[in-house]
Amino acid sequence: MTDQVRLVEVGPRDGLQNEPSHPTTEIKIELIQRLFGAGLRHIEAGAFVSPRWVPQMADSAAVIAALKPPAGSEILALVPNEAGLKPALASQVGTVAVFTAASETFSQRNTNCSIAEGLTRIRSVVEQAKAANRQVRGYVSCVVGCPYEGRIPVSSVVRVAEELFAMGCDEIALGDTNGAARPAEIQALLSAVTGSIPVGRIAIHAHDTYGMGIANVLTALEYGVRSIDSSVAGLGGCPYAPGATGNVATEDVVYLLEGQGLATGTDLDELTRIGAWICNALGRPLGSRVGKARLAT
Ligand code: HMG
Ligand code: MG
Repeated sequence: MTDQVRLVEVGPRDGLQNEPSHPTTEIKIELIQRLFGAGLRHIEAGAFVSPRWVPQMADSAAVIAALKPPAGSEILALVPNEAGLKPALASQVGTVAVFTAASETFSQRNTNCSIAEGLTRIRSVVEQAKAANRQVRGYVSCVVGCPYEGRIPVSSVVRVAEELFAMGCDEIALGDTNGAARPAEIQALLSAVTGSIPVGRIAIHAHDTYGMGIANVLTALEYGVRSIDSSVAGLGGCPYAPGATGNVATEDVVYLLEGQGLATGTDLDELTRIGAWICNALGRPLGSRVGKARLAT
């Protein structure tokens, strides 16, 4: 098993898409550049979704156009349909992230269509993104719980993940959208999903509603998952997932990984400074996950 971890920073997208203060384009650009500066190389920088649905992401094209990513970096962006694919392919986005859910109700609330209709839309996005030499990440939301339906059967997750994988997604990101998952459930989920999808093609996308985020990440790591999503300062949430809180904090994940002997290539002290800066810029109180300096050894 490799000791390299692919740390995917989703703060600029998941962290800001639900942000009531609607941060400016300049703040978003500064945030992403600073995250690159702290050593992160895989950053989900925005979403080419409908501005009627998520106004906070309306300036994603401008944000992404202004970025100066270091060599070897990967910029990801959410793309829900062909209308979103066009600007994504015209941008420096290297990875198109499509998204659907294992819950019918969440699919309807988040994308205004059934899971089957969403997969049909996604299929054409994936085909065109691959033809344009882009990587494709496929998110499955509500992999354990749904804010509307409650617990979701593992078999529903497997079915959707397999369809995304079969249509050509390079990576399947398992989204614990409302942070309902606990380690035993992540274990059972991974056991089922890896029946048909190699563990090396799976990412874990944890939200931290019940403080289970880091435990779930550790469970996934122990299972062999090496692609981990997180958000600086634990920002995050989905406007269509009421009650969900932020993603697991990047600072916490880096601290965990270093202790496990896994290389991240990031500067934890700088990440904590960025976390404090962005909370201040958003007018948010510093959460418990923010502002921790590296512990003296
Ligand atoms: P719809 O209303 O059914 O679509 O929405 P429509 O085709 O009828 O279009 C409605 C309007 O939006 C039209 O504009 C379109 O032109 C425009 P109007 O004519 O009314 O002025 N439009 C677009 N504009 C820009 N870019 C586009 C686009 N598409 C349509 N791509 C749709 C369907 C899928 C578009 C909508 O439901 C949507 O954008 N949903 C996205 C919701 C979202 O972004 N949620 C958060 C991200 S998912 C998440 O957070 C979970 C994740 O983190 C993993 C996890 O935690 O589980 C990834
Ligand atoms: Mg999310």
